[in-house]
Amino acid sequence: MARLSIIRWLPQLVLGLSCLLLLSIWIATDSIAAGKTLTVATEPTFPPFEFQSVTGELQGFDIDLMNAIASSSGFRVKYQNMPFAGMIPALQTQTVDAAVAAMAITAERVKTISFSRPYFKSGVAIATRADNQNIINFDSLKNKTIGVQIGTTGAQKAKSIPGSEIRTFDDSPLTLQALINGNVDAVLNDQVVLLYGIKTGNLEKLKVVSSLLTEEFYGIPTPKGSPNLQAINQGIETVLKNGTYAKIYEKWFGIQPPQLPEKSPIENQAPKKGVSQLFTSLSIIFKSLPTLLNGALVTLELTAISVLLGMIGGTLIGIVRLFPTPPLPWIARAYVDFFRGTPLLVQIFMIYFGLPALAQNFGFTFTLNRLVAAVIALSLNCAAYIAEIVRAGIQSIEPGQTEASQSLGLSSVQTMRYVIFPQALRRMLPPLGNQFISLLKDTSLVAIIGFEELFRKGQLIVAENYRSFEIYATVALVYLFLTLLSSQALSRFERSLNPINKKKAN
Ligand code: ARG
Repeated sequence: MARLSIIRWLPQLVLGLSCLLLLSIWIATDSIAAGKTLTVATEPTFPPFEFQSVTGELQGFDIDLMNAIASSSGFRVKYQNMPFAGMIPALQTQTVDAAVAAMAITAERVKTISFSRPYFKSGVAIATRADNQNIINFDSLKNKTIGVQIGTTGAQKAKSIPGSEIRTFDDSPLTLQALINGNVDAVLNDQVVLLYGIKTGNLEKLKVVSSLLTEEFYGIPTPKGSPNLQAINQGIETVLKNGTYAKIYEKWFGIQPPQLPEKSPIENQAPKKGVSQLFTSLSIIFKSLPTLLNGALVTLELTAISVLLGMIGGTLIGIVRLFPTPPLPWIARAYVDFFRGTPLLVQIFMIYFGLPALAQNFGFTFTLNRLVAAVIALSLNCAAYIAEIVRAGIQSIEPGQTEASQSLGLSSVQTMRYVIFPQALRRMLPPLGNQFISLLKDTSLVAIIGFEELFRKGQLIVAENYRSFEIYATVALVYLFLTLLSSQALSRFERSLNPINKKKAN
């Protein structure tokens, strides 16, 4: 039986995977034709290196420098915004030709991409709330909750803190917001970025403690063997010599630039050859499976709790919507409209980042645990959909049935309990099943608050091994497995509720 159903799903599986493969090949070949205009990835949430003005213009030290390099080496630049953690995979597939992202040259990164010569000396520092007296140096971070941006050198450094709990966020502002809200005790981030934020008054509730934890040099990353690397290096050399570099440095930091080494202490590596691609891919998938399955358990747990709460809330709201007299049905209607009419992602942000910030403005501090925030957001949202399913289910039962039960002397609660609801439930099951499956997939959205469910676990693995295709394909397959399993279970449940089947079973 089980084998049969696997065979039944096989065509869908194969079709899905082939589409993914075709899409990735198309994206990879599309970018090789970039010619004289280089596509340069950047993540403009990292002031003063790259950020956007109020009118949406790109600016920052990195942007000025890249433009100067381009004009001295005679190429044009087309910037493409992308998350920091996605840049190395994008460089590997040559979706972009280079990146400017305050990216440090590290031993891990040179295994898969090639860096230009160093253009900035930097390091990771600790930020904490201005009123925190306990965190004074690296050792005092022990057993603390640390916020980091996914895929950065700060995230790497945080792993070496004993007993710490690491929360990863998609960009640096989210990390700092979590620190201001009190969701984390400290943040490890590039010192210049922290100092700049505090100086410009955007982060006045924070302070930077102790000296640098690492020494790193930023370079401009390119795909391995890129034909453009030489032009970029040439450009850096020219702007360093002709004083443009010093001018840009002074513009952003107000001081003269320090001396830069000509070569990074970490050298680019030649691409590896000889190992079978298929074998590497399989071993990568195999290695990541335990972590991903662990994440799948968290996903299931999150879905189960949220669906349970959503069912309770949704049923109540659905019934209230049917009350004959206002104002309760209006309130229920407004609830449904709000939660159905705004994106779940925005709701998650509002609850996790927005509510504590709002509370602080009114003078009291509270923080939300990530699980609590995730469950609140998911169950509030799914309650709105379930309310509609419940309402429609109840309304689909002919009014004649209510009249008949009442003429038999049943009260309205009894009518609902014994006559209407059991029949409505059977009609509600298929849409409820859909809702369950949507919720299961929507749990991936809470990755944004650093919650380590299945998708986030995948992102974290990619941030380390840069094998996006293998890992995300595995993540997709695990989700597919979970949803197929749930829909099987649901249809079995549906069948068992069918009175015809019940009779047969007797
Ligand atoms: N310098 C750090 C690193 O290389 C952080 C860079 C983050 N950059 C950004 N645009 N968000 O890992």
